[in-house]
Amino acid sequence: MKFFLDTANLADIRWATQAGLIDGITTNPTTLAKFAGDVDPQDVLKEICSLVDGPVSAEVVAVDAAGMYTEGRELAHLADNIVVKIPMLEEGMTAVRRLVADGIKVNVTLAFSSVQCLIAAKAGATYVSPFLGRLDDVGHDSMDVIRETRTIFDNYGYETEILAASIRHPRHVAEAAMLGADVATMPTEVLKKLLLHPLTDRGLDQFLNDWSKLAARSKVGA
Ligand code: E4P
Repeated sequence: MKFFLDTANLADIRWATQAGLIDGITTNPTTLAKFAGDVDPQDVLKEICSLVDGPVSAEVVAVDAAGMYTEGRELAHLADNIVVKIPMLEEGMTAVRRLVADGIKVNVTLAFSSVQCLIAAKAGATYVSPFLGRLDDVGHDSMDVIRETRTIFDNYGYETEILAASIRHPRHVAEAAMLGADVATMPTEVLKKLLLHPLTDRGLDQFLNDWSKLAARSKVGA
C-alpha cells in the first residue's frame, strides 16, 4: 500500500519525505487555504512537487466541464508529478475524459459510493478517492465502499487506484489495507500515529534498562 500525506504544510512534507515514509501528496482547496498564507497557491504546489518524488494531487475549483478542463491543464503544467483532482460530478467526468485524452493523470475526489468509483474508473481516472472519515461521520460504514470498489475493479480489470482518503485514525489505514485499497492519504498526525504502539515504548525501556544493569554488573566484575 502506498502512503500519501494529505497536507500542504511544507515542513510536514519535508519531514515525511526525509523519513522515507511517503510516496506522494494530496492537497485540496482547504489545505492550501490553511497553509499557503500569503504565498500564491500555485507556488506552494510547485514547491511541494519539487520536494516529493511522487504524485502530488492539486484540485480544480471550477465546477463546469470547460472550466475544470482549462484549470486542470494549467495545474498539470506546474510540474511533471501533478495529478489533477476533479470532483465527482457529471461535468467533472467530461473534464476527466478530456484531461485523460491529453495524457494528464486525474484523481477523482469526493467519492462516497462504489458506483461513483466505478464511474471514475470508466472515465479513465488514475486514482479515485473515497472519503472514509466523512462517511463514518454520517453513520455509514466507510469500509463497505472500499470492499465493493475493490471487487468491482477486480471483476472488470480496472487499473484505477483506490485512494482511501479522509482518514482519521490508524484503524482506517489497517482496514483499508486489508480490503485492498492501493493508497491511503492521511494527515501528518495519523502518519505519526502509525509508527507508535505503547508496548513498543515499554518493551524498549525494559530492554535498555536490563542492558544497563548488565553493563553495571560487568563494570563491578572487571
Ligand atoms: C483527499 O484527497 C482529501 O484531501 C482529504 O482526505 C479530505 O479529508 P478530510 O475529510 O479530513 O477533510
